[in-house]
Amino acid sequence: MRFAEPMLRNTARALRRQWWRLRQAVDRAPFDEHFYLAAYSDVAAAVEEGRVSTAYQHFHESGASEGRLAFGSLEPDLEEMLLMAPTTAMVYLELTSRCNLRCVYCPVSQPGYVGADLVLANFDRFVEVMHARRVQIVVMNGHGESSIVKDWDAIADRLADEGFRLHITTNLAKRLTASEVSALSRFDMILVSVDTVDASLLAELRRGANLDTILRNLEAVIGHAARRHRDPEIAVSCVVSDRSALGIAALVDTLLAVGVRKFRFGDLVEYPAVDGAMTVRHVSTLSADELADARAQFRHALDAIGARGAIVNVDPPVAAILERIGETRLEVDVRTPDTATKIVRFDRPLALETRDCLDPWRIAFVHASGEVRPCCFYEETLGQLDAEPLPDIVNGARFRELRRGLLSGELSRSCASCNARSLIGIDLLRAKVEEYVEYEANRTADAPR
Ligand SMILES: C[S@@+](CC[C@H](N)C(=O)[O-])C[C@H]1O[C@@H](n2cnc3c(N)ncnc32)[C@H](O)[C@@H]1O
Ligand code: SF4
Repeated sequence: MRFAEPMLRNTARALRRQWWRLRQAVDRAPFDEHFYLAAYSDVAAAVEEGRVSTAYQHFHESGASEGRLAFGSLEPDLEEMLLMAPTTAMVYLELTSRCNLRCVYCPVSQPGYVGADLVLANFDRFVEVMHARRVQIVVMNGHGESSIVKDWDAIADRLADEGFRLHITTNLAKRLTASEVSALSRFDMILVSVDTVDASLLAELRRGANLDTILRNLEAVIGHAARRHRDPEIAVSCVVSDRSALGIAALVDTLLAVGVRKFRFGDLVEYPAVDGAMTVRHVSTLSADELADARAQFRHALDAIGARGAIVNVDPPVAAILERIGETRLEVDVRTPDTATKIVRFDRPLALETRDCLDPWRIAFVHASGEVRPCCFYEETLGQLDAEPLPDIVNGARFRELRRGLLSGELSRSCASCNARSLIGIDLLRAKVEEYVEYEANRTADAPR
């Protein structure tokens, strides 16, 4: 090759030097044939078909100059792995967002609220996808009442026959048929929403609810299950508010006596007052005397629950006000996600803190609209079942971004102001995620299906 100009001659010399150095580097580079064939499937095919004699020859003749690596790790990047969910342990199905009741504090009571039923284009295919994702538990819950959906009991039976464990959150407010009692007795966990055992207060709070009907339904389910040697866990969810807080001791005593073995004390998310109905405010708005009474009742309730070996789960803001007096650093977030403004109290994370939450790794919450989210608190949609299959949604960019936020402490607004999960150091959450992802990846590898 000849060059007329000295500058071009120098450039050519520099290029030849660079090429010679690259050649030497290539010749000296360790070569991992196993890596090369696994990383470059086109080369593997060419070797298999005899178009190239060896992987090493390919690397020397063209691979190096194409920028292919001679060796490397076949292990996926750990950071990327932690953003993936190998399985979906729980699927929440909001069979409907319609309801037979109009609880005064529930978004269902807000003017303009419109409910709808879940339409799964191909239920059999959805069941297959749940099996492929190694789903263990299907939870019937959402903004609505599953037990008013036509044939909900047949859907439950089908899911139980498929081997899924079933949980439900229900108002249990309508008289159940024999077939519904039978379906419910197959559930592993039945969470009944009852805020008070004061029948007239309950009727005002959960408009349309009758305490006797709820208790009779409970008795029927427990009896039916016992005759079939089944023992569903009966749990009660109480929304703690200025109206219900002063009846907590009576609620727990009464319900322990009828066989309830798990209690959830949920924090009230405040919605605007409903015309003509009782107003309900956050428990923190009680007077000092009333708060002292509520705290004494709560202590009694926790003691009684402990004495019977029952379990209790308390939302962090309720615990902050009724248990950890003097330690609260609750903040308020006002949001308008859809129909109405809502007010949420939450513990604000400090630096290096995050939410103690694995839900985005464990849960796919399918709303009646077909939208998929990680839980019922999360306000942004992370996918739509009509548009994308479930596995693509739960490991898609939006779910991964949510997980990245939890791992780094850079929380999305929904996670930052979540009132259902406490706070934890980011190192501790990371350790939990590592353990969970590894365990679930092994479960995927082990389980025959
Ligand atoms: C929306 S309901 C749906 C399931 C069923 N209809 C029921 O009432 O159990 C699920 C749970 O959310 C609770 N809930 C409703 N509105 C709430 C609010 N504003 N703040 C906190 N919890 C609320 C209910 O009491 C119930 O335990
Ligand atoms: S029963 Fe449940 S979904 Fe219906 S209005 Fe009450 S809390 Fe809301």
